[in-house]
Amino acid sequence: MSSPQKVFPGTLRDAADRGRKIAMVTAYDAPSARLADRAGVDAILVGDSAAMAVLGLDSTVGVTMDEMLVLTRAVSRGARRPLLVADLPFGAYQVSNRDAVKNAIRFVRDAGADAIKVEGAGTTIRRAAAIVAAGVPVMGHLGLTPQTATMLGGYHPQGRTATSATRLLEDARTLETAGCLAVVLEAVPAEVAARVTDALRIPTIGIGSGAHCDGQVLVWHDLLGLTAGHLPRFVKQYAQLGDQIVAAIEAYVADVRAATFPGDAHTYRMFSGELPVFQDAINERSDT
Ligand code: KIV
Repeated sequence: MSSPQKVFPGTLRDAADRGRKIAMVTAYDAPSARLADRAGVDAILVGDSAAMAVLGLDSTVGVTMDEMLVLTRAVSRGARRPLLVADLPFGAYQVSNRDAVKNAIRFVRDAGADAIKVEGAGTTIRRAAAIVAAGVPVMGHLGLTPQTATMLGGYHPQGRTATSATRLLEDARTLETAGCLAVVLEAVPAEVAARVTDALRIPTIGIGSGAHCDGQVLVWHDLLGLTAGHLPRFVKQYAQLGDQIVAAIEAYVADVRAATFPGDAHTYRMFSGELPVFQDAINERSDT
């Protein structure tokens, strides 16, 4: 059951402090957002995974600010209670703090987001601090960061060596110091994610990073069985909606071809007494 209370960044932290796990899911349109809200999620992420999930692109790097703003606006109309986090897409924050702040503000002012998410550490730390200083809550994202997957050598788990795990822990601490409200840990070994979670006061949200994180996030289409093709091993499918949708559309196609749809229940009729008058008008016209 969904709680009627609006979720704020502090709500997530309170939940984590009390040991209640945070549930987050992505969404890219108003009806999906409404369903996620009804189902009681704490947070919705308008992820740049929209690039693949709904725009048919091969990676997240091709999605633009304008596309992300359209999707975020739609989601904000569908769900008011969960914390609404929008991904700053690739190119929207890498060049300068000024770009980062300007684009983050667009998500809040023009699209109804409560917070934005940025990937990585390095210069991202400065961007995160600048965005927080401008009054926009920021979620970090470490481990497998899809926007820079090429630099990482592909879509592989991160932090599998002691050296890279130590760097990941340091990056997480720095994002916390920069003022981030939470950090997503993607494809990080469970032992590493557990230690990062224990070291931070802000919540960690895992995806492929084990059960010890303060919360979990999954991509809408993966969770519901709507993704075509390969799924990462960390995905658990809770439904096979793709199969159900195909079966429903096949039934519709068969009905249309057999002329059994639309039936009376789906059909409008003229007001009583109007048909003979209409028919007379047709007949008169064909007589002349
Ligand atoms: O874009 C996205 O959906 C994400 C999640 C996988 C965390 O960043």
